[in-house]
Amino acid sequence: METARDRRARATRGVPARRAPPSRSRARRETGRARHAAGSRDPRAEGHRVPPVGDRLWVLAARANDGSEAFAFFPSPFFVVDDFFGSARDADRQNRLLTTARPNRSKSKPPARSDPSQIFKAAQDILPGGVNSPVRAFKSVGGGPIVFDHVKDAYAFDVDGNKYIDYVGSWGPAICGHANERVNEKLKAQIDKGTSFGAPCELENVLGQMVIDRVPSVEMVRFCNSGTEACLSVLRVMRAYTGRDKIIKFEGCYHGHADPFLVQAGSGVATLGLPDSPGVPKAATNTTLCAPYNDLEAVKKIFEENKGEIAGVILEPVVGNSGFIIPDKSFLEGLREITTAEGALLTFDEVMTGFRISKGCAQEYWGVTPDLTTMGKVIGGGLPVGAYGGKREIMDVVAPAGPMYQAGTLSGNPLAMVAGIETLNILAEEGSYEYMDKNTKRLIEGILEAGKEAGHAVCGGSIRGMFGFFFCEGPVRNFADATESDTDKFARWHRGMLEEGVYLAPSQYEAGFTGLKHTEEDIEYTIEAAKRVMARI
Ligand SMILES: Cc1ncc(COP(=O)(O)O)c(C=O)c1O
Repeated sequence: METARDRRARATRGVPARRAPPSRSRARRETGRARHAAGSRDPRAEGHRVPPVGDRLWVLAARANDGSEAFAFFPSPFFVVDDFFGSARDADRQNRLLTTARPNRSKSKPPARSDPSQIFKAAQDILPGGVNSPVRAFKSVGGGPIVFDHVKDAYAFDVDGNKYIDYVGSWGPAICGHANERVNEKLKAQIDKGTSFGAPCELENVLGQMVIDRVPSVEMVRFCNSGTEACLSVLRVMRAYTGRDKIIKFEGCYHGHADPFLVQAGSGVATLGLPDSPGVPKAATNTTLCAPYNDLEAVKKIFEENKGEIAGVILEPVVGNSGFIIPDKSFLEGLREITTAEGALLTFDEVMTGFRISKGCAQEYWGVTPDLTTMGKVIGGGLPVGAYGGKREIMDVVAPAGPMYQAGTLSGNPLAMVAGIETLNILAEEGSYEYMDKNTKRLIEGILEAGKEAGHAVCGGSIRGMFGFFFCEGPVRNFADATESDTDKFARWHRGMLEEGVYLAPSQYEAGFTGLKHTEEDIEYTIEAAKRVMARI
């Protein structure tokens, strides 16, 4: 059987080395020079007719030996999106105006491209903040978000035609590469059979069994539609099973946006500088107790102060929502011991780490088995999905097996199931995790080296397909340590890498992801780009 490694070797042999992604800044500079020369004088001053905004335009500029310039305008597939010669004098803006067209208003003649700034501007009138999830708005790094046109393998392509090496991977699901051929094939076949049954289908059994076979803690599983749903449901399970109300979470860990978890919730909330969220009643969070990550003594103290009242402990078994933070193995083992001794449940939120850190999730990697596990992202292969599972005896409280209610119209829908099944099939092939581990280690070592060489304080690390670093000496062991990082410098780093054609998560408090489609050339290109950017920030 052809393994993932064989396939990669074959692909590498057959395909010429990929050129580095086009540098956004270089592309801009080059077109900037050409266009700036063409538009350096205002033809209106010389009596030429300049097409009004909304017209289609093709501009031809010629310069004679004596230095005189001539302009001619023709109809073209491009739209004039602004008063080019009037208000747009800087080269960058002129590039944008001539290289892009506004979204198609005419039904019969579609434009070649869309203007990303116009798309995001329009989105701000339609969607709160212009986005459907806050961190996408780039608030903590400045500048507008990149508007993508399509994604493929390890790459994202924006509506301007720029290509980026993508280390966000749709925030985790794209571990086998975007638009993976095998996943797409299964999806296409399933679309013809129906996209939602709202009734049992065998695919749920197949994916469910795969999860049970791989994840040490899972004997039964329930599928839902997002990581948020998985976490809020598992919270209900912990309470229903133990008959207790209080839970312990850790500062900087994110478990979705359900009310009880919006306390010290890491990334999105930290990124926006919100200590908490308005709209969350005190009653919803006064049973949520918070401890610093990696601090077993703090957890013991909370248990002592709340004897017999704590239903369970939930945590990210490798943190990705305060930036990338690795737990001490002894911390996880200690949590296992305390929860067992206190009759409380231990939940690993593996929405991010599940099937990314290892075939059996982070719990297999660490050798610590929780009572319950939440999953999402990777098991949906790029479609909306979530899941929670655990010991049979505990999962038996979930309706209709037991009294704890939880439901979902689209839960276990066949599209998400086939995408998840094929994704897990690909990940199970020999060498998958080793491949990601090697690439990711090389990447983070290269970035840290580039930072140190340029005189920056940096620290970071990686496990398999997950990595991150901070602009501080470190070590970063919890959220408080993470906030010591220089976030202004991170913003400059982020913008610099974008200009180099490298797409990183737009927040210091987010982890980065690699996948099976990132090539060694991608990694080496990224390291070279990191050297250039570190030297100038
Ligand atoms: C650890 C963790 N739990 C839960 C969630 C929430 O998942 P979703 O965004 O699918 O609701 C996330 C999302 O990033 C996460 O990283």
